[in-house]
Amino acid sequence: MFPKLEGEIAPHMIFRGEKVLTWSLNNYIGLANHPEVRAEDAKASKDWGLAYPMGARIMSGQTSKHEELEGKLAEFVGKERAYLLNYGYMGMTSIIDSLVNRNDVIVYDSESHACILDGLRMHMGKRYVFPHNNIENLEKQLERASRLIEKTGGGILVITEGVFGMAGDLGKLKEIIALKDKFKFRLLVDDAHGFGTMGKTGAGTGEHLGVQNKIDVYFATFAKAMAGIGGFVASDEDVVDYLQYNMRSQIYAKSLPMPVVIGSLKRLELLKGKPELKEKLWTIVRALQKGLKKNGLDLGNTESPVTPVFLKGGLPEATGITMDLRENYGIFCSIVIYPVVPKDVIMLRLIPTADHTLEDVERTINAFSEVKKKLDAGKYSKEIKTQVVK
Ligand SMILES: Cc1ncc(COP(=O)(O)O)c(C=O)c1O
Repeated sequence: MFPKLEGEIAPHMIFRGEKVLTWSLNNYIGLANHPEVRAEDAKASKDWGLAYPMGARIMSGQTSKHEELEGKLAEFVGKERAYLLNYGYMGMTSIIDSLVNRNDVIVYDSESHACILDGLRMHMGKRYVFPHNNIENLEKQLERASRLIEKTGGGILVITEGVFGMAGDLGKLKEIIALKDKFKFRLLVDDAHGFGTMGKTGAGTGEHLGVQNKIDVYFATFAKAMAGIGGFVASDEDVVDYLQYNMRSQIYAKSLPMPVVIGSLKRLELLKGKPELKEKLWTIVRALQKGLKKNGLDLGNTESPVTPVFLKGGLPEATGITMDLRENYGIFCSIVIYPVVPKDVIMLRLIPTADHTLEDVERTINAFSEVKKKLDAGKYSKEIKTQVVK
């Protein structure tokens, strides 16, 4: 049974009839329920309905609003052109599928998101993986790939992420880009969690690290900071032009509906025009991460709003902690266990947002400190399947 969170999207929602403090929604800068967003979504739905435009972009699904949004996105992320995607997941698989052929080699980070891994499944040529953020190993894979493309006449596509959505650490974009002096490759970055949260203007992890202009193909989704649906890819004119006529997910699927496009224009306007939203997010992020660390909790290597809390334990402890947090502390967050993390590790993932308050933060820090003490005392290793730890 999937958990069901009810009520308006906000830090406080209803879970099984009880109010819970939620830390599991990617509504980073609080746009989901922003009054201007809600008003624009409602107006666009009333004006256009969900049907318009009918058909794929290439056939009968093109509108000036789609083009306007693409123009504004490209300008914001510092690329020549952008192209809209129906769902980030579907878009990414399709970008990979269309950018490479059997002569090309893909070199990718081992902790890449499922949409990247599924894109790789469609690749008919070789793919080499490098251990997460291990630049030394990446160099080895690039040497292998370079030797291979000498024979095939193909190219190399390196794929990584801006912000890794599980552990919150950043892709080593600077170090990867530095390898361009030695190897010939193009870089594709999935910045789902960085767009709107990272960088001075919110233009993403490339902006934050000062390398945005060296990312060849930039990808982001509207499902996180934009609190919407869909996504986009941005790159040089010729690359986007090629993608427009080759991405199967866009050629053989209906164009994004008008309310989604108009709603995204409003979201982008707020994301760019109200930097205080991102500042508020970071106030919450800093307070939460500082407080948790001060209380001895291990947050790994996060450098983004994504806040993982690593604890020692297996399935019984994970079950006990989840129940204890939900039932006794009224806190709802995602919990990740093996095989996503090593066998004896539990990862609780908190997603702070601009809508959280410092009281929410304090309550959470206190709860996590108590949970850690109980865990260290072995309280969760007992039989806790139906019983909550008091
Ligand atoms: C890193 C990453 N890439 C891509 C996606 C897919 O985006 P969407 O939800 O728009 O399909 C997600 C969202 O879960 C993500 O976290």
